[in-house]
This record gives sequence, C-alpha cells and structure tokens, in this order.
Amino acid sequence: MRVAVIGVGRIGGLHVANLRAASHRTVTVDLRPEADFRDVREVPDALVPQIDAWVVSTPTHLHLQTLRQILTRARAARVLLEKPAAVPSELAALSRTLDEHPDARVVVNNVYANSSAVHQLAGSVRRLSASDPIRRITIEFTKNRLSDVAAGRFVDTDYGEIGYEWFHMLAILRELLDPEDYRAYLATPWTAATREVRVSTSGRGLPDIELYSSMRGRVGFPRLAGPLFASAAARQEIATRDIGFGAGLRYRFADVELASGTRCCLVYEPYYAVLDSYKNTHAVVTSTATGAEVTTVAENQLATALTAQLRALTSAPGGLVRLYQEEHTHMARLAAHIGSYEANPAPRLGLAGQRNEVTI
Ligand SMILES: NC(=O)c1ccc[n+]([C@@H]2O[C@H](COP(=O)([O-])OP(=O)(O)OC[C@H]3O[C@@H](n4cnc5c(N)ncnc54)[C@H](O)[C@@H]3O)[C@@H](O)[C@H]2O)c1
Repeated sequence: MRVAVIGVGRIGGLHVANLRAASHRTVTVDLRPEADFRDVREVPDALVPQIDAWVVSTPTHLHLQTLRQILTRARAARVLLEKPAAVPSELAALSRTLDEHPDARVVVNNVYANSSAVHQLAGSVRRLSASDPIRRITIEFTKNRLSDVAAGRFVDTDYGEIGYEWFHMLAILRELLDPEDYRAYLATPWTAATREVRVSTSGRGLPDIELYSSMRGRVGFPRLAGPLFASAAARQEIATRDIGFGAGLRYRFADVELASGTRCCLVYEPYYAVLDSYKNTHAVVTSTATGAEVTTVAENQLATALTAQLRALTSAPGGLVRLYQEEHTHMARLAAHIGSYEANPAPRLGLAGQRNEVTI
C-alpha cells in the first residue's frame, strides 16, 4: 500500500518508520526540508490516485485544515487522523466537512482500542466480572514531560493536559465497561476534577471510576502498579510519587478491582530499565487472595493500531467514519472546566488533601 503521511514529527516519524518496516511505500509531507513535499497541494496530480491512505499527524490545531486539503485533492480519501481529531472549536466543522464528503473514510487513531494488552485485560475482566462485579476502576498515565515542554513539545493550548493522555484512558475504559455503562460514564457529571488531572466519577449504577494523568511526573496511585515494576530503582522512584525531570520512566496502568477483592491490572512497560525491549513489553496481572497470575504481552501498540486501522480504512465498503465524537465532547468539557480553574485558581483542598484540587 502507498500511504501519505502529513506531519512527520514525533508521531508521524514513528508512523513512517512502522509503515516502511511493514514494506509499505510512503509519501511524506512536512515543512521540514527532508520531506517529499512541503504541502498537500504540492503532491502531483498523477500521484494522488496512487495514494491508498493518508495519515494526518500535523499539530492538532491544523488537523481540520489538513483534512480539508486532502479532501480537496481526493474526495473519497481514506484518512487516519491523529487524536485529538480537532480542536474543540472546530469539532462541529469537522463533522460538517465529513457530511459534505460522504465517500470519504476517516478514522481517528485509537491506539489503545486496538491494543492486544488492553484486549487481554478486558477479556480477563469480562470473564471474572460475570460472577464478581466490578467495584472500582483506576487508570493512570503519568510521565514527567517537563523537558519536552521546555523544548516546546507537548504544549496543547486547546485541550491542555487533556489533549495528551485522556483519549487513550477513555479508550481503555470503553473496553472495560459494557457500552451502556460507558455511555452513562460519559454522560455522568464528574464528582471531582482537579488540574493534575484527576477525574473521579461515581453513581448511576457505575463502579467508582478514577482517571488520573500528570505530565509533571506526580504519581497519583503509587501502590496500585508500582510493585509490579521489575526494577528496584523504578519501584523506588514511583514510591516517591515524583518521577524526575528528564526521566524515561512512564507510569501507565489500568487497575480493576472486583467486589471479592480480586484485582486485574494492566501495567505498561513494567520491565523498564531491565529489558531492552521494555517499550513493547506489557503485563496483565490478576491477583487473588491465593496468588497472582501474570500474562506478558509483547507488542508494538502503535504499529499494530496503524496496520489494523489502515486495513479497515482501505477494505471496508462505503463511508467509514470513526470520530469518537462523544469522547471529544467529554474532553472539550473537561478541558474547559480545568482551564477555567487555571484562570481563577482559588485553592480548595478536596480529595485526600491533594494539591490543586477543586471539587464541583
Ligand atoms: N496517537 C498517539 O499516541 C499520539 C502521540 C503523540 C502525538 N499525537 C498527536 O499527533 C499530532 C502531532 O503530534 P507530535 O507530537 O508528533 O507533534 P510534532 O510537533 O512532533 O510534529 C508535528 C509535525 O507537523 C509538521 N507541520 C506543522 N505544520 C505543518 C503543515 N502546515 N504542513 C505539514 N506539516 C506541518 C511539523 O513540522 C512537525 O514535523 C498531534 O495531534 C498529537 O496530539 C498522537
């Protein structure tokens, strides 16, 4: 397949490398001089019909503009659009653009919905929760990204912190809950939302659900997955609740606690600083009163998701559109809530005496 990648920065560069590793041909478009073309409008007319799919990985505020440029060249284009799909103020215009191009197929890149590790966790939870209901779900994605921020990366002025990990965490939650409960979750006002960012939700027959993410390396739940890391130094760093500036350690997990006390925990990169392949080695740990069972999942999630979604885009009949509108509406509301708090940060202590908390 021949795939055009628009925006060959950090994520677009990985897409190009993964496509080439899978023997696909690539066409690159970026302002950088090493790209094949600087602009979608520069791609020669003769080449456009030979492009099977397009990947949009320009900065989020340019997604709609880039997509429109592609659809001007190819009305029935197959497009994998990086997440978030568009900035909050352009989500409605994105839907209208797609309504005007009924032959186009557009899928927002959902890495975690296509992840074998997430499917492994969801399978275990589904099996066990048939007789042992889910009591609590905790999902955390924390890394100290301040060195990236200092270099001008990871600065999303539209969604703020919500723009980085929230789509991924919602994707995991979507796999864990049944569809009705997931819709109820998105529709339920959060019990508390804090700017680190911590969002707690309970009620409407849902389990207690807490999503937490920090770009400053402030660990929210060190005890839930910290002990599952193989390296003593990593365990110690997580236990301090403070991942240092420039550290490569990422603390990402999804933990499901059942009524009996059994826990299923998906932990990403638990072999950090132990295995060379740690970035593509994850584990699902099921702990009961009698012991723990560990299933290791070896996978390059980004490559798996890219391949699966490009296959769906290029093979499904008719117009395929997966914009995840409900997720984007939810993220936009959350970002606005946290943004308004940032603008007027009257400190109020809330849950567990955590700093920066605001209850609503
Ligand atoms: N799915 C994921 O896990 C994931 C991870 C990281 C980033 N993202 C998303 O990918 C997008 C890009 O993020 P990034 O971290 O790679 O950013 P980046 O800044 O590293 O890369 C963006 C690239 O777009 C290029 N660019 C800017 N304007 C352009 C234009 N008008 N035409 C062509 N190219 C242009 C820049 O030169 C740069 O190379 C964002 O929407 C981000 O949210 C997704």
